[in-house]
Amino acid sequence: MNRHISPLPAHASVSLLAPAKINLALHVTGRRDDGYHLLESLVAFAGFGDQIDVSLSAQDCFTVTGPFAQAVPTDATNLVLRARDALRARFPTKARPVDIRLDKRLPIASGIGGGSSDAAAALIALNRLWALGLDIESLCETGLSLGADLPMCLHGQQKGLPLLARGIGEALQPVPRFPSLPIVLANDGTGLSTPRVFEALSRRDNPPLPSPPDFSTVETVCTYLRQTRNDLYAASLTLAPALAGLLDLFAESGARFAQMSGSGATCFAVFHDNAAAVRAAAFLKARNPQWFVVATETRHASE
Ligand code: C5P
Repeated sequence: MNRHISPLPAHASVSLLAPAKINLALHVTGRRDDGYHLLESLVAFAGFGDQIDVSLSAQDCFTVTGPFAQAVPTDATNLVLRARDALRARFPTKARPVDIRLDKRLPIASGIGGGSSDAAAALIALNRLWALGLDIESLCETGLSLGADLPMCLHGQQKGLPLLARGIGEALQPVPRFPSLPIVLANDGTGLSTPRVFEALSRRDNPPLPSPPDFSTVETVCTYLRQTRNDLYAASLTLAPALAGLLDLFAESGARFAQMSGSGATCFAVFHDNAAAVRAAAFLKARNPQWFVVATETRHASE
């Protein structure tokens, strides 16, 4: 007799990193009738993010820990629970109770997709735990109903590859070749409301991204990025003037390129190598011990 047969299915728990999403470039090219903006963005995913653990349980639970836990709502408005509930509404008979634990390591409302990445990770974990067998496109349908960044975060979660995003962020094209970028993420504690930043835009018909080259080296990426913009930066700067000082500090720290991600206020800087990124992070942290500062790498793509 085999006494080790488990009453639980193959996946009784799933643990995932919900990586920070970085808009390396973000052009606002138009606006839809429903108010959403048309974008062109080059997006990469960091090796650093929130951690989410989901397991089958006798009843639904949701716990948030970590350095940014205090700012996270734990009621049904949380995007993770909205993702759970949206998937459960599609598959009510398969959706068993789950215990969801979120370790919140990314600052919230900060332009690096923390909430969207958490929700994307929750959808992927629940797809496995509930044995739904949904493909990424089907998960993206549910995801897009929760937020414009969800599809890119689902792709980032699944494969981690850099993407070109168009439409409102949902039309995605993988970038076939892309190096791992040594980067530093920094946030001075400012959270910005995405709708308020979009409202503050003075121009909504900017030129599209230049055609992407073959991104073979860190330097090729930086040369390309210097021809791009984050069209939300000027709007975010009106709401958070200290942003400019953060970018100046990156320049002082030897960054090859620095910019704000998404609607801010987190900024990223690209460095020649990992040692330079680690040194720059230490320099920023020494000057501003209360800031969120992380040296990490983006995930690469190779054909
Ligand atoms: O879709 P999500 O809830 O993440 O978007 C938050 C807000 O950001 C939207 O309500 C809208 O005001 C703004 N937004 C936009 N255009 C986009 C994405 C977001 O105007 N492409």
